Amino acid sequence: MDISARIESAIQQAIAEGQAGSAPPRLAQALDYAVTPGGARIRPTICLHVALACGDDQPALADAAATAVELIHCASLVHDDMPCFDNADIRRGKPTVHKAYGEPLALLTGDSLIVAGFEVLARAAQHDPARAIELIKIIGTRTGMPYGICAGQGWESEDQVDLSAYHQAKTGALFIAATQMGAVAAGQAAEPWQELGARIGEAFQVADDLKDALCDAETIGKPAGQDEVNHRPSAVTELGVEGAIQRLKDVLSGAIESIPPCPGEAALAQMVRKTAERLMPASASVHAAE
Ligand code: IPE
Ligand code: IPE
Ligand code: MG
Ligand code: MG
Repeated sequence: MDISARIESAIQQAIAEGQAGSAPPRLAQALDYAVTPGGARIRPTICLHVALACGDDQPALADAAATAVELIHCASLVHDDMPCFDNADIRRGKPTVHKAYGEPLALLTGDSLIVAGFEVLARAAQHDPARAIELIKIIGTRTGMPYGICAGQGWESEDQVDLSAYHQAKTGALFIAATQMGAVAAGQAAEPWQELGARIGEAFQVADDLKDALCDAETIGKPAGQDEVNHRPSAVTELGVEGAIQRLKDVLSGAIESIPPCPGEAALAQMVRKTAERLMPASASVHAAE
């Protein structure tokens, strides 16, 4: 099975678990609505690429790791779009969960998906309990406080914000989880994989800030220009377009060198190179060339 098929099948299985039995039908439907069809699935893709580069000797654990990261990412989007955060009407080209199902069910959808992410890992523990505990620790660290998405979103309620710390927590955290969990699922140590995740994650958020400033809603499938509307700290407001593009290049320049030694190092480097190329928004390259 290729990587994308592995991801979709594992995610579908996790959603089906949440919809089983006497589940309330509208919340059950909202779980699926929030997760499929997916966006780029970049985090689980990175997670499985790292697992494969490390030998992937426990594919069920790697699938669980990739699924957990994506479910928690989807949960963070549902909550992020709600009126108390970014108040967005469109996500992945369709109405956001609170627009389609109302705020109470959007809140519960996000909550349920976070819990589902942990449950997937607990269920996979039968394959290797020690690795599963490590996976649960990593996803916990990168979801909550003080290093996870909660911390990242929490910075938006502070007067003084360090852009890099904000980006690292709100977005970098799950990319660190993706690289570390891929490695741990395959029996490797987590620590050497932190830098690669942090670099891709920070670059990803800078690229997202550039898209927010330079692209239209139709292109990105979500409202554009929102960082300015919501007064969010952004690489573009802080550094300007050229400065943000330079930051993107700087962060990515060390990404390939940060790949720890592993059997599939060359293939992984290729994946990182491709990811880096895709992160530069087309209109930013045009702008940079002007
Ligand atoms: C959007 O993430 C939120 C950010 C961290 C910028 P993605 O761009 O990965 O969203 P999907 O999953 O592809 O829709
Ligand atoms: C999203 O950040 C990061 C999350 C934790 C969800 P943004 O608010 O900048 O991302 P988009 O632009 O809504 O996808
Ligand atoms: Mg936000
Ligand atoms: Mg948002």
